[in-house]
Amino acid sequence: MDVILRHQHPSGGYPACPTFEVYGYSWFRDGAFIAEGADRAGATDSARAFHDWCARVLTARAERIERIVDTLRSGGTPAAGDWLPARYTLEGADEGDTGWWNFQLDGYGTWLHLLVTHLRRHSADPAPFREAARLACEYLAASWNTPCFDWWEEDSEQRHGNTLAASEAGLRAAVDAGLVEGDTAERARDAAEEIAATVRREGVRDGHLNKWLGGPDAVDSSLLSALTPFELADGELAERTLAAVERDLLHEGGVYRYRADTFYGGGRWPVLAALLGWHYARTGRRADAERQLRWIESQFTAEGLLPEQAPEGLRLAPEREQEWLDRWGPNATPLLWSHGMYLILADELGVLDGTVAGSVAGSGS
Ligand code: BGC
Repeated sequence: MDVILRHQHPSGGYPACPTFEVYGYSWFRDGAFIAEGADRAGATDSARAFHDWCARVLTARAERIERIVDTLRSGGTPAAGDWLPARYTLEGADEGDTGWWNFQLDGYGTWLHLLVTHLRRHSADPAPFREAARLACEYLAASWNTPCFDWWEEDSEQRHGNTLAASEAGLRAAVDAGLVEGDTAERARDAAEEIAATVRREGVRDGHLNKWLGGPDAVDSSLLSALTPFELADGELAERTLAAVERDLLHEGGVYRYRADTFYGGGRWPVLAALLGWHYARTGRRADAERQLRWIESQFTAEGLLPEQAPEGLRLAPEREQEWLDRWGPNATPLLWSHGMYLILADELGVLDGTVAGSVAGSGS
């Protein structure tokens, strides 16, 4: 926990990884999950500071967002550099054109969903977030069907099941919580319904959610988010998606991203082990959830840090590891998203106090 608090910027932004050259930025996706983990572990102020940071990022770009929405509503295409990025500097500025794979929609939906979770948990006044939520909803309601980079900042020509699940969940949460009203609420509700219908119509292969809509049969562990926490898929669709991920991507407690992964040789990700464990815990499979927790705990360094992916063990494409080591050095450690997800899973299991979070990394709150 103190890893998260120690590195949070005074502005509220969380760096994805404080020591990794290209991760010194605050992503909406990573940050929303980090804040959720911090909040569950009792660091309410840290979570609130991140949500405030997101709200400021959005309201400072109100004009740009209105322009994108107007363009989309009139059938046009926003200029490439106009889309909101996936990440900002810790102070909340655009980073400029660094060539990062920035056009990703999921972070805005994830933020809305977990902001509502935070506000509900604390019975907090939603008023300070209404304008930012309105902007995020208008943005997603107008843009959700546009192909963009996925969780892994890849495959920008596709519409991805988990990006759509995040957008749907964020829109639905904002409406259900009364965070947005009037025409915005109506547009958000309609878009959420259309997204869910589109995913069920075009995003299913062999009975499971597919990596992308209309693509060849393939799963990606990020699709688990459509089950938990986004709850777009339930019943048989959820069961078959889970079964496909377990069959293709679960290995000794750790979870790969997708079979063709070559990033750092394609190792297993603590973030994904926690996502799977979170789903197990929510659906009553406690022993399986505990197994994920234990696997994550086996990945802590002696200093109490979690990496982006397990540096040891089986890789999907071992011959591709060296090129990334040469390019960026050892894989990102600590990855704050890994820490946030670990806290979420520990909380789901009711063991926050007895975990590595409570000992090696200190309670911090
Ligand atoms: C991952 C993203 C993540 C970013 C920062 C990238 O390598 O693909 O999912 O948001 O790192 O952690």
